[in-house]
Amino acid sequence: MAEAQLADSLYIVNDFGLQHFQKQLFETDEGKSVALSYFRKRGLREETIRAFGLGYAPDERDLLLRKAKSAGHNLELLKKVGLCSQDGSRDFFRARVMFAIHNLSGKVAAFAGRTMSSEKTVPKYINSPETEIYVKNKILYGAFQAKKAIRQLDECLLVEGYMDVISLYQAGIENVVASSGTSLTEGQLQLIRRNTSNLKILYDGDPAGIKAALRGLDLALEQDLNVKICLLPDGHDPDSYVQEFGGEQFLKYTTENAKDFIFFKTDLLLEETKGDPIKRQVW
Ligand code: GTP
Ligand code: MN
Repeated sequence: MAEAQLADSLYIVNDFGLQHFQKQLFETDEGKSVALSYFRKRGLREETIRAFGLGYAPDERDLLLRKAKSAGHNLELLKKVGLCSQDGSRDFFRARVMFAIHNLSGKVAAFAGRTMSSEKTVPKYINSPETEIYVKNKILYGAFQAKKAIRQLDECLLVEGYMDVISLYQAGIENVVASSGTSLTEGQLQLIRRNTSNLKILYDGDPAGIKAALRGLDLALEQDLNVKICLLPDGHDPDSYVQEFGGEQFLKYTTENAKDFIFFKTDLLLEETKGDPIKRQVW
């Protein structure tokens, strides 16, 4: 099969997946009571849920598979995009709320599914596998929805998670994309660089967030991006902050607390060596 044709057929299968997950969310009793109420509890409005292609995969063995087959979709393609298990016997996403991952032109390249259980043994998020249409290090979550605002405002905000992007967008802060848990790659930075040269990294204020921010930073500088960093108050990620305090306060906080990378790094080193005369001397 020619490359473009293969890509087209993968998009078609993913679009079927999107329709299916949305139908489960909006049109079934279980979807409404379990998943739609979950999204609402997290502060999302219906237009936001639709704009980001959110959905629901119920806890059923092969619901999607059966529907896909009866709609005439090819099993090999379903396997390839990862909507079912590799032996073709089960749905891959079950008992999860679903996030469509769009490419820059708005086609569905992949999905992420979040468990609604707080059970620690269940992975919080699972993702579609890499395919011809889903090259992880070249996709930024939210880029399709954010593109216009990034250009207009000449700035891109970078956050870690799906919910961070969605909640900020809903609060009117639309120039935001996520690296989705992975450390930032060169391909992702190039994507940003094509739309703006100003990047503001917004990470959790915990040690892991700080480390992640620093990792992204060096790469970003190599791309000639002006980089600012803003850590959120302890215990908050961008989603929880904007849901609690609103968009205006979020902008105020991030404007006042964003630091140019040099100052950020200096402060961090000073903080680390505080009260330690030896380390301090060495530095
Ligand atoms: P919520 O808890 O729903 O608010 O999600 P979050 O985005 O705040 O989650 P967290 O801060 O734990 O993780 C940040 C991002 O890392 C997520 O949005 C995912 O992209 C990714 N991530 C988190 N947990 C997992 C996981 O178990 N597997 C994978 N593949 N990615 C994960
Ligand atoms: Mn979160």
